[in-house]
Order: sequence, then C-alpha cells, then structure tokens
Amino acid sequence: MKVNGTPYRSLWWDADKGALQIIDQRWLPHEFRIQQVDTLEDYATAIVEMRVRGAPLIGATAAYGMALAMAQDASDANLDRAWDFLHETRPTAINLKWALDRCRAALRPVAESDRAATALTLAHEIADEDVEINRRIGQHGLEIIRKIAAAKPAGEPVRILTHCNAGWLATVDFGTATSPMYQAHDAGIPLHVWVDETRPRNQGALTSWELGSHGISHTYIVDNAGGHLMQHGQVDLVIVGTDRTTRRGDVCNKIGTYLKALAAKDNGVPFYVALPSPTIDWTVTDGVAEIPIEERNATETTHIQGIGPDGKFASVRVSPEGTPGGNPAFDVTPNRLVTGLITERGVCEATPEGLAALFPDMAGATAAE
Ligand code: MRU
Repeated sequence: MKVNGTPYRSLWWDADKGALQIIDQRWLPHEFRIQQVDTLEDYATAIVEMRVRGAPLIGATAAYGMALAMAQDASDANLDRAWDFLHETRPTAINLKWALDRCRAALRPVAESDRAATALTLAHEIADEDVEINRRIGQHGLEIIRKIAAAKPAGEPVRILTHCNAGWLATVDFGTATSPMYQAHDAGIPLHVWVDETRPRNQGALTSWELGSHGISHTYIVDNAGGHLMQHGQVDLVIVGTDRTTRRGDVCNKIGTYLKALAAKDNGVPFYVALPSPTIDWTVTDGVAEIPIEERNATETTHIQGIGPDGKFASVRVSPEGTPGGNPAFDVTPNRLVTGLITERGVCEATPEGLAALFPDMAGATAAE
C-alpha cells in the first residue's frame, strides 16, 4: 500500500545490501522509520518489541530470519537452533511456527551448500504468498460488503467495526480484515470504519493511519464504545483479524475481540473474521483451553505512549504508582459467536466441517505431525 504516494510493503529484501528492511512500527503513526535487520538477535528483538507485529508479518519475518541463519551456518544444528531461537519470541500467533516449520522441513533435505540460497528464495515465496492470500480474502470479503451495501439506501455508507490492526502493516501487504475494506472503497462502495483504539498498544492508531492514507472515512473510538454503537444500530458488520484459529473455528485475536463478538451476537450484528490459512492451527480444537496467551509487560497497561505537544515521544503513567498492571495480549472468541470466516478460498462457517470443506488438503494435520 502507499505511504505519501510511494508503494511499500511492510518488509522487503534489499538485494544490494543483502538485508531485510522493516518498518519499525513502534513509531507509527507519528513517524515512518525504516530499519535494516542485520543479525538473528535483531530479528528476535524486532518481533519481541513489536517493531514488526501481526500474525502474518511475524511469520514472514521469521522466514527471513531462517535465511539469515542459513547464510551464517547452514548446518542441521544451526537450523534447529535458529528455529528454537525465533520460535520463543512470541507464543500466540501460529504463523510464526507455521513459517519456521515450513522453512525447516524444506531446508532439511537440501545440501548445506545450497541452503542459504534456498532459504532466501523460500522467504520471498512466503512473503509473496501472503500478499496473494490477502488479495483473495479481500475479494471474498468484498462480496459480503457489497450485499450489505445493496440492502441500504443508495449512498449510505456500510459501517464496519474493526479491532486492533489487521491491516497491511500486520501482513506483508493489503492486510486481512482491511483487505475487503480497501477493495470495497476502490469499487466505489461508501464505507465508514469504526476503529477500536485497542489498548494497551493502540494498534487502532495504525489502522486509522492506514485507512486515512487510503482515503477511507473512519472514526477512532475507545474500546468500550463498540457495544453502545451496536445497540444504536450504527454498526452493520464487524471484521477482525486473527492470530490463531482452531480447527473448529475458535478465534484467538487481540485482547478485547471476544467482548466485541458478544456485543455483536446480542445485537444481531454479523461478526466476520478474516482468516489466512497459515493462521489455522489444525492441531488445536478448543481455543480457550489450548491456545497459549501472551502476557506482556505490565508497563504497557500502566503507562500510555504518545507524542506530546512538543512533537516528542512521551510515556505517561496513568495508574497510581505501585499499582500492578495485568496485560494478557489476546483472547479467544468461541466459534458460536463467529458469523463466518473469510479465507483465501472463500467464506465458511466457523465449524470443523466448514473449515475442512474449504481446506481438505490441510485438515488432516494433527498434533503428532
Ligand atoms: O500484538 P499484535 O499487534 O501482533 O497483534 C495483532 C493482532 O492481534 C491482529 O489482529 C492479528 O495478528 C491479525 S493480523 C492480520
């Protein structure tokens, strides 16, 4: 997508420098900073500190990390070491493990002398595939928006609520939840997006920045406003992303998603999840019981980061000094609250049968594999 008229992906390979470039998202939406990732430690730090973030982008970043590891030492031992080292960075988004597993499985049979080149080619493939998956999610999601628009008086905007940032910044390009919005806007369908701020990291500010850059009308709202807006008929549908979805369609996503799904159910508002297939964890059924939820640093809760009137970044404590902060970063929305899953192969029910019908080639995977 474009930043001030220049097309960007959220990461890209600089062949001249022989290194990955990322957008350091900690400074957005206030500053657009690019960082070169040079060492495996830099890769891990980028993921842990959320310089790169969002399930698909974490996966693609990890694939480039494996390529770097293979360029340094292409032994089997280093393949396993790099897998372990990158895998422990963040526990919830399954795309990380998906990408690491895919790289290790593809590289193991390759001669050590060819592993660095093969790993880099594979990382490019994973990045390009993500872009195509998201483009297709956009096409399928567009049809949902189109139907809702057709049922409204001409010219009235379709009002979509979204949580967190499942936008192009959270993927390699286009985003998952935002891809249908971009395609609908480009197709001339009037939209208005309610953007949850998404405390504590305020990824809603990233979503607002993206939507604003693309000319999509939107309002940045506090996380608690969604239920009220739904009660007053101001939300036509909800579209969110996901960090891991189980084989029966339980959806793990940014903390607060579950509450939006409950409010949507109570108010008869369709609740859709944009789901790329690498985000499906076929080894897990019950999301609440089985998905590990990342507990992040309490200061993310007790403090707020932002930019002051002097234009400088500042961190402000909002809780009393000494009050402990709790910071579970994700929650799980049970499948019964999900209207549908928008995947790259089409829209399905959030049920084991719905997912298996769209992905018969993947649905056989189990924990033992
Ligand atoms: O903690 P984050 O910012 O990495 O969490 C991101 C989300 O929860 C996104 O909604 C999810 O990864 C889907 S991104 C396409």
